Amino acid sequence: MDYDGMTKSLLTRREALMTGAAALLAPRLVLAAPEAVTLTAGVVAKTLPGNVGPSTLWLYNEKIAPVLRIRRNEAFTAVFRNELAEHSAIHWHGVRVPHAMDGVPFITQDPVQPGESFTYQFAPPDPGTFFFHPHCNTVEALGRGLAGVLVVEDPRDQGLFDIEHVLVLKDWRSRHDGSFEDFLTDAGAARAGSFGDLRTVNGAVLPTLTVQPGARVRLRILNVDSTRIPMLSLRGAAKPVVIATDGNACDPFALNGWRLGPAMRADVAFIAPSKAGAEIIIEDVFGTKPRPLAKLVTAGQELRSTRASLRLPAAELPQPDLKTATRLDVQLLSGSADPKLEAWAKENGVSPDEICLTQKVFWSLNRQVWPGMAHDRLPPPLFELKSGRSYVAELFNGTPHQHPMHLHGHTFRVLGSSERDLPPHWADTVLVRPKERIRIAFVAGEPGDWMFHCHIIEHQETGMMAYLRVS
Ligand code: C2O
Ligand code: CU
Repeated sequence: MDYDGMTKSLLTRREALMTGAAALLAPRLVLAAPEAVTLTAGVVAKTLPGNVGPSTLWLYNEKIAPVLRIRRNEAFTAVFRNELAEHSAIHWHGVRVPHAMDGVPFITQDPVQPGESFTYQFAPPDPGTFFFHPHCNTVEALGRGLAGVLVVEDPRDQGLFDIEHVLVLKDWRSRHDGSFEDFLTDAGAARAGSFGDLRTVNGAVLPTLTVQPGARVRLRILNVDSTRIPMLSLRGAAKPVVIATDGNACDPFALNGWRLGPAMRADVAFIAPSKAGAEIIIEDVFGTKPRPLAKLVTAGQELRSTRASLRLPAAELPQPDLKTATRLDVQLLSGSADPKLEAWAKENGVSPDEICLTQKVFWSLNRQVWPGMAHDRLPPPLFELKSGRSYVAELFNGTPHQHPMHLHGHTFRVLGSSERDLPPHWADTVLVRPKERIRIAFVAGEPGDWMFHCHIIEHQETGMMAYLRVS
């Protein structure tokens, strides 16, 4: 397992796989041990770029956005050690993990208390670009940097690209002295969220990466920010295409300002310019003035590639049957604390101070707000589904803000939008714009309660969260 590489020269990766081949000869049952990795969540003082004083960050293994590479369908073991001062867990965002591995405290597992560990074990069924993060007090944990990248490699991809880079987008709400502004503000939570001014890629401001002239380049771009929705563009690259959405292969479509909401990922492919010294700027074109985020420079030996191969082998996901699918309606709405639920919480002795417990409510799903109760005191599920059955959900956004809606444990087919041309694609997080109706389809997976929420974390923490119960 390669633990660190943000960047991979695919030649050396193949070599690495060769040397790893010896380990693969060991019997399958004991394979878990050599493949185990430890992820320690801890507090680290680090000075963020441009600041004069250190920030109190929460990081996995003391790194900003560490990259973990594992292989599809192979057993993977991660020992999570919690060295934070509060309970935590790891949610493997977008990975179709067994329910007990989904990392939602109180719902799929007991919270991992400070000083304790928990072992996650699963064989990822789908290749792609994923990430991991905690699922309680998420606004602060993500705000302080607690997130990592999980790349699930697909043996079918071998040789398709000459180079790849992982680009992790994240903004920080840090002041110049390193201290943080409030991660959740009423003004932000009730609107588009509280933005960070310090915009980074892989923890750096405008980093420069290299690619060979003429190379087939794959960028795995992840937005791990809690708020920002950049519109991605690659200035200087001819015809960049999105080849995977949330890690899942799609029919390539032009990048062209694709909006990458919080938690969304896009794999982008293009052929690098054929002369050395050319620059490609990855920018956010949302504002009136494009905002450069990272730079790619061509250097080294020229490669001669053709565009023909800029596509990934098709995703192999459960195909919903649209003819027999049951229809679900989800309305994304504003909300306010439900007096019935509040009274009920009081009766049941649920303390409002408990971590994970929403105190402020601005949002709802079908007028139901997330009260954040412990496992045995959950609110009713938003829907009850039957494992193996197909569903088509229509998500309607009745608010003036965008919401990236995420469903745990399932990869859904985005069928289309009422408002725009949206190429059909697979996703685990879909951005729903104001007044828009988006239809998604999926096959209900493993029995259990699966979270469904907005990934603008201030929205999630102020009501826009629910769960689907699969039985
Ligand atoms: Cu990445 Cu429930 O979230
Ligand atoms: Cu939202």
